[in-house]
Amino acid sequence: MATDVENLLGRLLGPQSEADERNRPQRLLESMRYASLGGGKRLRPFLVVETAALCDVPRGRALMVGAALECVHCYSLVHDDLPAMDDDALRRGRPTVHKAFDDATAILAGDGLLTFAFDVLARPEVHPDPAVRVALVLALARAAGLGGMVGGQMLDLEAEGRFAGGHPLRIGEDEVRTLQAMKTGALLRFACIAGAILGQARAQAYDAIDRYGVALGQAFQIADDLLDIEGDPETVGKATGKDAAAHKATLVGMLGVDAAKARLRVLVGEAEAALAPFGDGTAVLRAAARFVAERRA
Ligand code: IPE
Ligand code: IPE
Ligand code: MG
Ligand code: MG
Ligand code: MG
Repeated sequence: MATDVENLLGRLLGPQSEADERNRPQRLLESMRYASLGGGKRLRPFLVVETAALCDVPRGRALMVGAALECVHCYSLVHDDLPAMDDDALRRGRPTVHKAFDDATAILAGDGLLTFAFDVLARPEVHPDPAVRVALVLALARAAGLGGMVGGQMLDLEAEGRFAGGHPLRIGEDEVRTLQAMKTGALLRFACIAGAILGQARAQAYDAIDRYGVALGQAFQIADDLLDIEGDPETVGKATGKDAAAHKATLVGMLGVDAAKARLRVLVGEAEAALAPFGDGTAVLRAAARFVAERRA
């Protein structure tokens, strides 16, 4: 699966017609390829493909949506790592984009990947019905933007006191949940419901997949925050021990490691239970929920 995504992204960002090539600055293209190829778990495209399979969607269409979503995810990582954001030097076991290139190129690589995602999503190969493509564009724009990932990133920086003289805000558990549902949950939730949108699923199936996506999104960020404390940078492929140092608002910081792990188990149970209406054939997605919680990278 990860290989299929890699190949598709490689093709989409690969050599184009001679006329198109003239308008593609090589340094920008190289940085976009560096940011999106050769690494990552490809969890989001995997979720698109698997939930799409539940809704009888041809795999090729799901892969296109997965590739578009991965472009948004990779852009979010490039910008998240910038000196003005989390200031990280290592990502996916390699120098971050601004280290391998420079800050300005990294900003533009992110911009390029974000817009490219919508270029891919609007193509006829995604779905023959333009209304389905528009629904996907709208859902991804909402998940990525002001009320989704970007909004969550802003709340994340605010909570650490960036704009309040460096004094971390005192925020409650509900607020951390909202922040995390936006910064990480929204794109993972989109990954799940994209299959239902592509398959024009009935409301009941759509809602069940959505519940799975919400639980999985919450579990994912708790696991990420646990890895920041307990993970090994070699395995995780990025620096650890940064959240406490930056006074990030995390559920792990708030509840403690043991309670956070207990919460993780509850969320995996919720994700698995949400798939019950589909009967058999959800083993892979149930295993994905467990993987998200137990992962070491
Ligand atoms: C990391 O996401 C960033 C967060 C949303 C916490 P992933 O752990 O999915 O990163 P890759 O794609 O595998 O590198
Ligand atoms: C950021 O969360 C999630 C994004 C929207 C990119 P983190 O800042 O915790 O992600 P990592 O730990 O750097 O991957
Ligand atoms: Mg961050
Ligand atoms: Mg970060
Ligand atoms: Mg993190």
